Amino acid sequence: MSDMATQGLLYLTSGALVFVIMLMILRELGSKNSTTSNAKTELFPWLGTDLLKIVDIKTETHDIKTFRLQRDNGGNFPQFKEGQFLSFQIGDDEKTLRSYSISSSALNLKTIDVSIKLLKDGVGSGWFHSRAISDTVTAFSPNGLFTTEKEKYESKPLVLVAGGIGITPFLSMIKTATEVASTTPMYLFYGARTKKDLAFHDELLTYNKRFNNFNYIPVLSENSEGWNGQTGFITTDLIKKSITHLAEAKYFFCGPPILTDSVTEKLLENNVSLDSIHSEKFASPASFDKSKISAVKATIKYNGTNLDYDGKESILEFFEEKNQPINFACRVGVCGSCKCKLISGEVDVFSDSGLTPQEVKEGYIQTCVARPLSDIELSL
Ligand SMILES: Cc1cc2nc3c(=O)[nH]c(=O)nc-3n(C[C@H](O)[C@H](O)[C@H](O)COP(=O)(O)OP(=O)(O)OC[C@H]3O[C@@H](n4cnc5c(N)ncnc54)[C@H](O)[C@@H]3O)c2cc1C
Ligand code: FES
Repeated sequence: MSDMATQGLLYLTSGALVFVIMLMILRELGSKNSTTSNAKTELFPWLGTDLLKIVDIKTETHDIKTFRLQRDNGGNFPQFKEGQFLSFQIGDDEKTLRSYSISSSALNLKTIDVSIKLLKDGVGSGWFHSRAISDTVTAFSPNGLFTTEKEKYESKPLVLVAGGIGITPFLSMIKTATEVASTTPMYLFYGARTKKDLAFHDELLTYNKRFNNFNYIPVLSENSEGWNGQTGFITTDLIKKSITHLAEAKYFFCGPPILTDSVTEKLLENNVSLDSIHSEKFASPASFDKSKISAVKATIKYNGTNLDYDGKESILEFFEEKNQPINFACRVGVCGSCKCKLISGEVDVFSDSGLTPQEVKEGYIQTCVARPLSDIELSL
């Protein structure tokens, strides 16, 4: 071998060695302090979808399991906000997606927990419940606007109202708030049918005992043997037992509309401003019933092209059919990835949960949950 070739080889080897040592140092730093070091996140950027490995599965109740996930490439999760969710690809079809709220603390970026309730004939929940430890799943990065990121540092009381599996984002909010030693008064009203449906009950009782500012009020709608707690439904009268001046608190709802809509209406009657009420709906793409809507004929002007629309599909589905490039990550109107600006015309919109109030004001719509009602013009 010539001298030059030997020298080149030497440079290459020492370069590779320096890189490996740097990686080892970063790995060590990451394992010592995952909350302050974003090095592992920066080294492994999450663009589009990413592979996550199931590293643990815990049975919470007869139908709820918690899946602990790690990034398959060894990187940290990007910094997310308590209350956010991940959207997962279910099986091999990249358009079959289901979203699950993160139920672990936003201060732990090494692993993320999602807690999933198995539904009868549920495509996504059934698929997840049949996964095993070491299986990988494909997900988009954390997303969502339903968060107490700022509120946990404010003095206004926080009222968290969960119905059933709607408890999951609140677990992350409570864990994160207690870990940063938040002093914000927090009241968790958690409605379930029977005691066996009350997931995370023991854990929440422990938080209730340990943290003076956290108050846990479980409510069962059906009588259960050995239950001495609240029964019935969560109402403003029940909330008033803890919060005398309803208008002074901030409210976060996650649960079925029958719970959130009736309480929201009563809060508004009690002078609570709409800005103080936040809610998250756990919708599934399978719940959009197209049999109840009528077909529409319209022209959609997009990217300078006129496209003929005739049917019931969402604007996102229509664009995909017409090979118009457009992003998506949840397909249920909660992440904002598919947003477009409505320049003119009328649309029927099912949800604006993934848009900020400013984006709504500016005329943005989420195409996965919007259909044209007249000729429309859209821009990205
Ligand atoms: C932001 C967000 C966060 C969420 N977080 C969580 C969470 O933390 N934990 C959790 O468990 N869920 C969560 N969800 C709900 C979750 O995304 C799924 O919607 C849920 O798991 C149901 O999906 P599935 O595929 O199992 O059921 P699907 O297959 O979508 O079916 C839903 C239900 O409808 C019924 N159904 C399906 N098709 C029809 C039909 N044609 N006619 C009549 N009935 C039908 C099914 O039997 C099933 O009971 C969240 C949703 C969102 C949007
Ligand atoms: S894809 Fe998430 S809002 Fe449309």
